[in-house]
Amino acid sequence: MKLKMKTYDIYVGEYEINQLETYIKSFYQYKDIYIVTDETVHHIYRDLMIEKLSQFNLHFCVVKPGETSKSFKTYIETTENLIDLNMKRNHLLIALGGGVIGDLTGFIAATLYRGVNYIQIPTTLLAQVDSSIGSKVGIDLKSGKNLLGSFYDPKFVLIDPTFLKTLSDREYRQGIAEMIKAGLIANKELYNFFKSHEKVTKNEILLALQVKRDVVLKDPFDLNERLILNFGHTFGHAIEKKFNYETYKHGEAISYGMLLAIKIGIAKKITPAYMYEDVKSVLKKHHLIEEPYFKVKDLVEYIKTDKKHMANTFHFICLNDIGSSVITNLKVGEF
Ligand SMILES: NC(=O)c1ccc[n+]([C@@H]2O[C@H](COP(=O)([O-])OP(=O)(O)OC[C@H]3O[C@@H](n4cnc5c(N)ncnc54)[C@H](O)[C@@H]3O)[C@@H](O)[C@H]2O)c1
Repeated sequence: MKLKMKTYDIYVGEYEINQLETYIKSFYQYKDIYIVTDETVHHIYRDLMIEKLSQFNLHFCVVKPGETSKSFKTYIETTENLIDLNMKRNHLLIALGGGVIGDLTGFIAATLYRGVNYIQIPTTLLAQVDSSIGSKVGIDLKSGKNLLGSFYDPKFVLIDPTFLKTLSDREYRQGIAEMIKAGLIANKELYNFFKSHEKVTKNEILLALQVKRDVVLKDPFDLNERLILNFGHTFGHAIEKKFNYETYKHGEAISYGMLLAIKIGIAKKITPAYMYEDVKSVLKKHHLIEEPYFKVKDLVEYIKTDKKHMANTFHFICLNDIGSSVITNLKVGEF
């Protein structure tokens, strides 16, 4: 199955990895390919990649797993490593891993030699339904997450759900949280799926991808419509910040954030009141939230210091129904 973005395709399917060599050979005439990955993914999938790309010389650049690798230090070290391995401007880079690897490798691709071709092969559910498409690449700085980055398109994205078999349950659930979000903002059928299912198939991955694709195509540079993808993220980011990005994973933080956004939507008379209990029970079913839930007052100071927020008023996403969202303005004193 193929989804089309403006300048690249997204291939989605079980065992799609078997087609990787064919897709690459359709545009790439060199022998060397450079794969950036993390230690965990490298350990599990190195042999598979060697088998699936048997006609190429593979060079692996392996970084530590986790958010700390989206750092300036790892960016510089990995870039120098690629140059030491003799990577040239016409060579191909592959991001094999979760969102950390995708964002880091995409940023290297955008900047090394002023831009090289790269492919995204996302291996976490979160990366498959969210971070690998939309062209945002970048790294964190000491002063905040994702502050140094760019928009840079891959040659293609290959999404193979069979990679998810080795993913831990907790990491898997972080992707479910983003899929529940996608359902809430734009696809009721997708949201309802999570009332009775714990695992996803290629079909739900496609539905979530379509939500993101449709929004990104309308607003590639994140100036207007794309803001709706931030549903739950204002408070989610505040929770992550408050706990130093340690206690709560991103999907868990945005789950609490979605509940708070629904509460605010109800208070603003935008969101129907029944949605609070409905969404709470779905998030609980997937072990994304547990009592006690956060209160707005616990988080306000972290919202005020968000480096990406303008002054005292900021855009805030509310739901006007399941599968339907709206961009509103919120003042810091208003909640
Ligand atoms: N660019 C975007 O638009 C965008 C959107 C959302 C999130 N992000 C970014 O994505 C990052 C989070 O991504 P993530 O949740 O994928 O985290 P991650 O990349 O840290 O991966 C999570 C963990 O899963 C392991 N892992 C990956 N694939 C595996 C597999 N198949 N089997 C076993 N283990 C595997 C990794 O080694 C890691 O320990 C954050 O930095 C966030 O800012 C970017």
